[in-house]
Amino acid sequence: MNGRQYVAILVGWGGSLAGLGGPLSAAHGWAYGVHKRYLVAFSLDGKAALPVQPPPTFAAPLKAEFTVNPALAQAGTELYARCVACHGPGAVAGGMAPDLRAAFVVTSAGQFTRIVRGGARAARGMPAYADITDQELTALQHYIRQQAEVALRQKP
Ligand code: HEC
Repeated sequence: MNGRQYVAILVGWGGSLAGLGGPLSAAHGWAYGVHKRYLVAFSLDGKAALPVQPPPTFAAPLKAEFTVNPALAQAGTELYARCVACHGPGAVAGGMAPDLRAAFVVTSAGQFTRIVRGGARAARGMPAYADITDQELTALQHYIRQQAEVALRQKP
């Protein structure tokens, strides 16, 4: 450009590993909305410093007043196939979307429904599942909360 050569590279965490990578990616502290992606342009006399990234960040599964029903959680395991590509296997998110084990909204049927069926966060990349039933939403809540409790039990 104007006689100067630049080499531009997209850098940061993304792609399928950030979604389906789940636990593998989360183990390195990549968190949704925390770490930034950049388009970095290099030139021979470039002087700009790279912005500093926040330190690794690990999701903290939420302790909640929510009694998991194992049969419902089992039903939710299958339904979670619709969510896994972004929210990660076993509900352990690797940076593509929030870690649902840490999400308060999962404990509230009303808020969960508004987001998952109603599309309340569609503008921010969370798809709306207009066809999902109340029973399926409940099963998903129980599955996600079960995964949160598994993680809480593993913590010392
Ligand atoms: C295409 C990727 C994608 C898929 C698939 C997806 N989500 Fe999301 N989800 C997101 C993103 C991105 C956000 C964050 C939106 C925001 O910043 O508010 C989100 C946010 C959420 C939130 C709010 C979390 C919070 O902390 O506020 C809930 C609950 C949620 N998703 C549930 C689900 C469920 C349940 C499914 C499967 C039925 C699902 N999502 C499938 C990308 C996805």
